[in-house]
Amino acid sequence: MKNLQYMMPLVFLALCLLFCSAEAQGGCASSIVQAAYWPSSTASFMPPASINASLYSHIYYAFAEMNDQTFQLEEQIMMGEFTTTVQQKNPCVKTLISIGGGGSNSTAFALMATNPIRRVVFIKSAIALARRHAFYGLDLDWEFPGNSTEMENLGELFSEWRQAIDSESRSSGRPPLLLSAAVYFAQRFFLWGEHRRYPSASIAENLDWVNVMAFDYHGSRDTSATGAPAALYDRSSNVSTSYGISTWVDSGLPPRKVVMGMPLYGPSWVLKSLNQTGIGAPAVAAGPKQNLSAESGVMFFSEIRDLIRVNNATEVFDTESVSAYCYAGELWVGYDNQDSVAAKVKFAKQKGLLGYFFWAISQDSNWMLSTIASQSWNK
Ligand SMILES: *[C@@H]1O[C@H](CO)[C@@H](O)[C@H](O)[C@H]1NC(C)=O
Ligand SMILES: *[C@@H]1O[C@H](CO)[C@@H](O)[C@H](O)[C@H]1NC(C)=O
Ligand SMILES: *[C@@H]1O[C@H](CO)[C@@H](O)[C@H](O)[C@H]1NC(C)=O
Ligand SMILES: *[C@@H]1O[C@H](CO)[C@@H](O)[C@H](O)[C@H]1NC(C)=O
Ligand SMILES: *[C@@H]1O[C@H](CO)[C@@H](O)[C@H](O)[C@H]1NC(C)=O
Ligand SMILES: *[C@@H]1O[C@H](CO)[C@@H](O)[C@H](O)[C@H]1NC(C)=O
Repeated sequence: MKNLQYMMPLVFLALCLLFCSAEAQGGCASSIVQAAYWPSSTASFMPPASINASLYSHIYYAFAEMNDQTFQLEEQIMMGEFTTTVQQKNPCVKTLISIGGGGSNSTAFALMATNPIRRVVFIKSAIALARRHAFYGLDLDWEFPGNSTEMENLGELFSEWRQAIDSESRSSGRPPLLLSAAVYFAQRFFLWGEHRRYPSASIAENLDWVNVMAFDYHGSRDTSATGAPAALYDRSSNVSTSYGISTWVDSGLPPRKVVMGMPLYGPSWVLKSLNQTGIGAPAVAAGPKQNLSAESGVMFFSEIRDLIRVNNATEVFDTESVSAYCYAGELWVGYDNQDSVAAKVKFAKQKGLLGYFFWAISQDSNWMLSTIASQSWNK
């Protein structure tokens, strides 16, 4: 027993040699993804220097655009300064360039993906852009491949992209770039257009993970009724995060390649009657345009918090759908709040997913939801 006391310091020393050096060399090797997208268009009120990088493992620069004639990626503002700045705050954070986005030209992506020469041109320019500005990876946000041929081409693109990344890594002697993609909430269940499914086999083989865009289920594009934009559960339909994630996992994609998305914004409506204020209540129009969000019918979480604080909006957490809404007078907003984010992160962890991401980093309210998510995962 006595000998053990003398041995304890030695044990600690041994442990420190093991972990302290791991910390110094590869202490950043986080096994989970706690990510967020930073739209460069929000640089005026959320410059890279204002990002609380300690809350994330990965931050996406959104977006790089592909030239629709040359199929090469184009230089964007602040690319060089972005990685340097966020890494000064958190040396462990990894930055990726996200390509495309909701507003990008999906025809151009289809034309690129269908042609072997254009694929090579695109892939080369993407790797070069990432290396030029010291990014750690690339992300494709093609919204959306429109039919089964385009889905096949996407699978081919991922395969060639992975080979190019591996070969660049061998010749440069640097760690391979990460490769991810932002994808629809479900693997095989599009709410419009042709029946199609993502190439899960190619994704499993070639991507580090997919960012499942588990939001936008309801928006004020349908002005007739309010709706939950990112419900975890929906008893009356399959338009929900739990269902979407299950289609990805059922398709054969390992859960450790699935990252669950959560929105930091919500759609807003003008209610028809002050008496009906629930999910699915009659509405007459999209909500008015706010300060920060560029379109009417959309509010950032920071603006929603202001509505609650300044206009005394009534906030409701709906336990059935695991989503929140609030209303003040005729204005109604559906969104994720502290309770739904905590529950969703718990869900993601229980399902064995790789992590979560937020769209978009500039919309949080004093880092409230990013902090809750991080704490909930670490519980
Ligand atoms: C950033 O997040 C960390 C972790 O939650 C927190 O301790 C810190 O206060 C935050 N910094 C700012 C400037 O909000
Ligand atoms: C999209 O790209 C295609 C070719 O790649 C081009 O012909 C078309 O004009 C582009 N559309 C828009 C809206 O820019
Ligand atoms: C899919 O769309 C492309 C246009 O991008 C078209 O050329 C092709 O014929 C379509 N394939 C199928 C199977 O419909
Ligand atoms: C949801 O999808 C399943 C198949 O995955 C199907 O059996 C069921 O009918 C769908 N439910 C609704 C409400 O559409
Ligand atoms: C709303 O409720 C008020 C008070 O209960 C009632 O007087 C009014 O008729 C109701 N309006 C509608 C449209 O149901
Ligand atoms: C805020 O709303 C609550 C009920 O929802 C009410 O009791 C309270 O008086 C209101 N406060 C202000 C400042 O309007």
